[in-house]
Amino acid sequence: MAVKKKDDQNQVNASPTKRFFVEMLTRDIELDDAILDLLDNCLDGAVRTNGKNPPKNPEKPYAGYWAEITMDAEHFCIKDNCGGIPLDIAKEYAFRFGRKDNKRDQELNTVGVYGIGMKRAIFKMGTDCWVRSHHADGSFGVNIDKDWITGDDKWDLEMDRKAQVPADQGVSLEITNLLPQIQNYFHPKKGNFAEVIKKKIRLHYAYIIKKGFTVKVNDKKVEPNDFQTLIANDLKKENVIAPYLYEAEADGVNVKLVMGMYERFPSQSELDDYEEGKRAKETAGWTVVCNDRVVVANDTSHLTGWGESGVPTYHSQYVMLSGLVEFVSNDASRLPVTTTKRGVDLNSALYADVKNIMRDALKHFTSFTNNWKTQTDERASMQTQTRAIDIRDAAQSVPADKWQEVRKGLKGKRFIPDLPRPIEEKTHARISFSRHKDEVQLVANLLCDPGTNPKPSEVGEAAFEWALREAKE
Ligand SMILES: Nc1ncnc2c1ncn2[C@@H]1O[C@H](COP(=O)(O)OP(=O)(O)O)[C@@H](O)[C@H]1O
Ligand SMILES: [Mg+2]
Repeated sequence: MAVKKKDDQNQVNASPTKRFFVEMLTRDIELDDAILDLLDNCLDGAVRTNGKNPPKNPEKPYAGYWAEITMDAEHFCIKDNCGGIPLDIAKEYAFRFGRKDNKRDQELNTVGVYGIGMKRAIFKMGTDCWVRSHHADGSFGVNIDKDWITGDDKWDLEMDRKAQVPADQGVSLEITNLLPQIQNYFHPKKGNFAEVIKKKIRLHYAYIIKKGFTVKVNDKKVEPNDFQTLIANDLKKENVIAPYLYEAEADGVNVKLVMGMYERFPSQSELDDYEEGKRAKETAGWTVVCNDRVVVANDTSHLTGWGESGVPTYHSQYVMLSGLVEFVSNDASRLPVTTTKRGVDLNSALYADVKNIMRDALKHFTSFTNNWKTQTDERASMQTQTRAIDIRDAAQSVPADKWQEVRKGLKGKRFIPDLPRPIEEKTHARISFSRHKDEVQLVANLLCDPGTNPKPSEVGEAAFEWALREAKE
């Protein structure tokens, strides 16, 4: 940090004040996102440890790792067994604002990029913090307190090599002197934020928990949300329910997409409940996952292609449609996530390309839904021939020869399901043609009731009905 030298008359002081950092950094982040940032750090720690000792079971790479959050009106604490902070990282980087070296973690699927998450989360919650780390390299504790935050002259922090540290290799971060508003949020009876954060973790960490990670909030284990999709029992049959699938590898990022039915069509009374807001659409829409973290959950807006370029706007009749897009890269900066890591980056060219596919999948399934709007026996029977599978197993369930190569955009391959159509569609044909308006009016005058002002399609229908009667006689 440039410090103004007293004897140099021509030098201006351009160093930032700490207050500026503390206020600016914490202004645009929500409390839940700040806490999830801390959890991301635990997980990044586990990913790094796994980088050194590959996990025994690749299906459950986070088995054995845990993070425990406790909070009340007096304190916030997050503790993990994910390996701890290496001494050199602690000295040179972990406590600084911002990352100097973007080459770090080059071969690892971590999500930290900007080097601010930990500091931002601390200042969001309180003015006193102890970070204690037990790493194979050595142990230390660092205390950030109010005096450090308000004092401007010194940015360095003391490292206490004799501090008490967690028994397992890992980190504990404890914040006290909570800000007044935070005290209320964390109070079990007032804000009850523990419940809010549990819900967030259930969703955003669903993947990670399924892959073996354990998260506890106030001593209670967090259970992950389910992601499922319906698939026909017998995929060899034609016109059966199956998800739309897409896979590609672009610019160091692996992309996987699944769109399908989360569950059967809603009944009329369920639909009424959705429309009146009595039931929430908890599983509808798109979920976007970047390096195992859910960054967007159950979105039904333009962000994920709804209501644009020929895709209908979300409506409760589409409540059972649910899709998942997964991005994986060992270079976190290539992932289409926003700086808070809890949103997709709409400036990403990669995301724009994938969104074209998302819209295509949506069109496929919304028109399928529209075909089956009415509650018929045929619809009921079609649904009984399906089962729900984990959405991540969908791609393996479809035989390789059913996929097609994609030549445009990101290329890759996809499987477009040949979805069932109601019998009526198979037995009926659509007639459409255009004629001069004057002629349409003439036919209307002849066949339709005077003064009803029929639409051209109604005139056409009346003409067909007339011709049909003639034909039958
Ligand atoms: N729980 C943790 N386990 C291991 N390392 C951690 C942990 N928390 C923080 N760190 C270290 O501190 C660094 C700074 O964290 P942070 O401010 O969130 O920035 P970023 O995650 O973007 O690098 C991390 O890169 C990591 O090396
Ligand atoms: Mg981080």
